This record gives sequence, structure tokens and C-alpha cells, in this order.
Amino acid sequence: MAIKGRNKIIIGNWKMCRSADRLAELNAIGAAAQEYAVETVICPPFPLIPMVRLLDRQRLEIGAQDCHHLVEGAHTGSVSPAMLRELGASHVILGHSERRACGETDALVCAKAAAAVRAGLIAIVCVGETADERAAGVTASVIADQVERSVPASARPDELLIAYEPLWAIGSGATPTAAEIADIHSEIRAALRGPLGSRHAATTRIIYGGSVTGANADWLLATPDVDGMLVGSASLTAAAFVPIIAAAGRFAASLEMNGQRAA
Ligand code: PGA
Repeated sequence: MAIKGRNKIIIGNWKMCRSADRLAELNAIGAAAQEYAVETVICPPFPLIPMVRLLDRQRLEIGAQDCHHLVEGAHTGSVSPAMLRELGASHVILGHSERRACGETDALVCAKAAAAVRAGLIAIVCVGETADERAAGVTASVIADQVERSVPASARPDELLIAYEPLWAIGSGATPTAAEIADIHSEIRAALRGPLGSRHAATTRIIYGGSVTGANADWLLATPDVDGMLVGSASLTAAAFVPIIAAAGRFAASLEMNGQRAA
């Protein structure tokens, strides 16, 4: 059953990949987002945000890959949420494991998410377990702790997305099974009740990331409690990304046929 407000969202994280090659892909990606009527977000490196805004012809939403938790000041190398808004970004990825690996704590991710929301951005808060944590059978508690500590209590469901990205699945070609993803997403939803309360926890979107491709997009999107996907390498070319957008379009069309359209 589709849940009101939880339409599938597809987010492409371009990380620090070469710029000129990426921009050439935008037209076909934007056309697919429009054709399939799928909420699609591209997260380019900071300097490309205005270029993407210029070239995407309003068919895509734009996200950044990080921001500072303060409004302004002497913070060399940092970018504030308000600056991202001014450039045309609507979303920001926070607490990606590649940034947590540089020392970002849950508390910092939480402060950044609160600042992003205050500035009018949608915060995409990433959580995920390592291969060792999975092997030790502590995935559920690791994820619940990350959610409780990284999600700002002030956020409303339309200001926040949670991205479940197992570290061992990122860039590896491996994914959890559908049952494992469904279990973790339901654990995340339960953990969200802490910071957000039950009503907001029920309607906050939880997306999956880690080795998403056109080949696995259909079953991932059909997995219970998966409200979209965060895509890394397969978002870098239209040839790889468009099939994922098309899969989200197909999923929405199938819901509509069954009279279950998410509002
Ligand atoms: P991947 O990356 O799709 O290349 O596995 C996902 C991510 O890091 O967000």
C-alpha cells in the first residue's frame, strides 16, 4: 500500500567525479525525469551546482554533498546551507560514510542537518553499518544509534530523508537481500520515533543506497519501506541512470493501475 507523501525519489551522488563529462549527461537525465515524472535529484560537486541549475531546465532538483553547520564565519573551505540555497540547491547529503570516514560524528551530522533544515534545504541523512558490524550481528543497534543521534528533532518529514547505505555495499556490486533491507528500514522507522515522534516517523522517507543499478532497481523499489534510492556510480552516465529513473516511473505507474497512487 502506498503511503501518502512517500513517492519514490531517485538521487544521484556524483561525488568528486570529473565535471565536464557529467554535464554532458544532464540533458538525457533531465528528459527521463520529465518523461517518467520521477522526483530526481542530482548532487554534483559544489562548483558545478550553478552549471547544473543552468543546464537542467528545471527538470531536476539539485543537491549538495555536504554543508557546514554554521551560518557564516571564519571556516576556510566550508560552504553554508544558505549559500547552497542561493545557488539553487534544494537538498544536501549529510553524513555520507565517505565523510564520516573523515571524522564526522553523529552529533556533527545532526547539527549540519538542523542547520540545513533551518536554511530551507532537505537534509538527506546517511546511515549504514560496516562489514565487520554486519558480521558481528550488530547492524540493527548500530543503525538505530546513528538514527537517534544524527536526526535533528526539529525536522518535519518533508524536510528530511534517511538514506540507508551499508558501507560494504557502496561501490562493491553487493547488496543486502530485499528481506534484509526491509528489516533495516523498519528498524530505522522505529528509531525515528525517538527524535521525530511517531506521526513524523511514519511519513519520513527512507531510501536505500549501495550498488544500485538498472538491473536491481525494480526489486529494490518494490521492497517494503524503500521510498527511493541514493545512487553513486550508476548516476554518472545517462545510460546507467535513466534505467533507474525509468524503474521508478514504472513502479508509480503500477501503483496507479492498482489505485494506490501515493499523493
Ligand atoms: P554506489 O554509491 O551506488 O556507487 O555504490 C552509493 C553512494 O555512495 O551513495
